[in-house]
Amino acid sequence: MGGPVSSPLSIVVLASGTGTLAAAIIAAERSGELDGHVVALGSDRDAQALAIAREAGVPTFTVSPADFPHRDAWDKALTKTVGLFRPGLVVLAGFMRILGPAFLAVFEGRTINSHPALLPLFPGAHAVRDALAAGATQTGCTVHWVNAGVDTGPVIGQRPAQILPGDDEESLHERIKVQERSLLVAVINDLASQSR
Ligand code: GAR
Repeated sequence: MGGPVSSPLSIVVLASGTGTLAAAIIAAERSGELDGHVVALGSDRDAQALAIAREAGVPTFTVSPADFPHRDAWDKALTKTVGLFRPGLVVLAGFMRILGPAFLAVFEGRTINSHPALLPLFPGAHAVRDALAAGATQTGCTVHWVNAGVDTGPVIGQRPAQILPGDDEESLHERIKVQERSLLVAVINDLASQSR
């Protein structure tokens, strides 16, 4: 009677910003479109993303560098706190910090990041601004594995987004984020099916 029941992929989302990517992941779970379970949302600051998670009944935590004497101590505390939730996958959804060696020692190979450009083009914290400044006519988004470099890990998936005449950073970023939200959910679902 009945085979083994595999538990859903446990996901910790880390976010520093408005949390619209995190909201898309949480909404996909609620509507049955996510092959996974968001067990917690963490931040490095008092981000709007935390309020979105709380509203959805997702446990939250904050590990702020300001509360630690140096970066290594913050890195270890973040690693410990994320580890409490035993995630099969950590998703950086607008997390604006570089993860340190303690975190990568435990979670490299289980951590993905969404970046608002077609890597290897425009890595770093100002990808949208940089694409506009370069006069590009197309950019997009990338989901990639996180390693010790800045946006250098192996690419898992990409989606293009057009740059339109008259775009500013905000309008272009919003067009990219539409693509990021659906790409992230698709990648999570692919990884979930591969993990079984
Ligand atoms: C997204 O565009 C994400 O790719 C970017 O922050 C935005 C978060 O949007 N992340 C980075 O730039 C990381 N270097 P949100 O706060 O609306 O979810």
